[in-house]
Amino acid sequence: MKLFDVYPVNNIAITRALGSYVWDENGEQYLDMYGGHAVISIGHTHPHWVKRIKDQLEKIAFYSNSIVIPIQQQLADKLAQVSGKDDYQLFLCNSGAEANENALKLASFHTGRKKIISFSKAFHGRTSLAVAATDNPFIIAPVNETDNIIFLPFNDEQALSKCFQANGDLIAAVIIEGIQGVGGINIATDSFLQLIRRLCDDYVAVYIADSVQCGYGRSGQFFAHDAAGVQADIYSMAKGMGNGFPIGGILIAPHIKPKHFMLGTTFGGNHLACAAALAVLEVIEQENLISMAKQRGMYIMNKLKSIEGIVNVRGKGLMIGFDVPENLKELKKKLLEDHNVFTGEAKPNVIRLLPSLALSRKQADEFLDALRESIAELQQNN
Ligand SMILES: Cc1ncc(COP(=O)(O)O)c(C=O)c1O
Repeated sequence: MKLFDVYPVNNIAITRALGSYVWDENGEQYLDMYGGHAVISIGHTHPHWVKRIKDQLEKIAFYSNSIVIPIQQQLADKLAQVSGKDDYQLFLCNSGAEANENALKLASFHTGRKKIISFSKAFHGRTSLAVAATDNPFIIAPVNETDNIIFLPFNDEQALSKCFQANGDLIAAVIIEGIQGVGGINIATDSFLQLIRRLCDDYVAVYIADSVQCGYGRSGQFFAHDAAGVQADIYSMAKGMGNGFPIGGILIAPHIKPKHFMLGTTFGGNHLACAAALAVLEVIEQENLISMAKQRGMYIMNKLKSIEGIVNVRGKGLMIGFDVPENLKELKKKLLEDHNVFTGEAKPNVIRLLPSLALSRKQADEFLDALRESIAELQQNN
């Protein structure tokens, strides 16, 4: 049987990983500045995470949500403590798209309205409503097309205010990434997020903070939206939440009340996933990874700004992007093939860095050296 060919892939099979390094089947070592697409938060195969999963596996891996699952409450308590959102409610699911799908659905149930505001270059996932709110017509199937989504320019306060003035009583939710990931590391301004908060209050709409990529400490704060001093009504989470074990969730503000059967899931919040997610939060806390991400990110960004050839260095914490000019368009490939460094990208010309929050200073330097050398080599060949 053939695999359904959904992505162009690098012809490398990774068979082992530890911290910020991965190894292929021939024992070749790579530095992972991509974090398996922002998923690796505490580091690959962190011993505490491995132990918690193993211990849980020997007890019970799964039982349905028709019974009490105490480890879900332990996870909720730890999440309240580490995120500071102690009066929020937690709904658990399995992925980022599912988290956003549930967030959007809940906003519509809560308000009784249908319209959703989303922004240019947004990416919210591939399920029906999440993909409809994603600014990429190529991945929206005809069946997902809907006129319930209103796309506005990112960070355009005037356009947002006008839209609420015209349609305010129809709007169920505004969904926004604190830092756009797939869109190319674009930071929502504090004043834009503050305006979203005010308008959602004025028009009784739901503010959804898509924190699937920029959340869980990656930006140097638990949620990137925290930097603006605002509280969203719903935070969606996934990627870093399980450090590679599939789990997602939404944090729901107290004024949004649950009704039985409004949301539901078979696998969401299973014992094994909760054990992985608890381990992640314990390590984030014990190893002080949120402030580490902030410091390490500032260090990398300052160094990047002094490297000639790359431009428009931007980001927060360990969510960093820079533009690669045409003469260096082979940079990502060169970093991987000649210097064994994985990085991420965003079309058309952005390199994205999304390493583990536990990336060491030495590893950051190793990356910066590889980058400088790759640029010099490419410039020589031009
Ligand atoms: C901001 C954001 N939201 C949602 C998603 C979808 O997450 P998943 O692939 O886990 O469904 C992603 C994935 O890249 C993302 O970056």
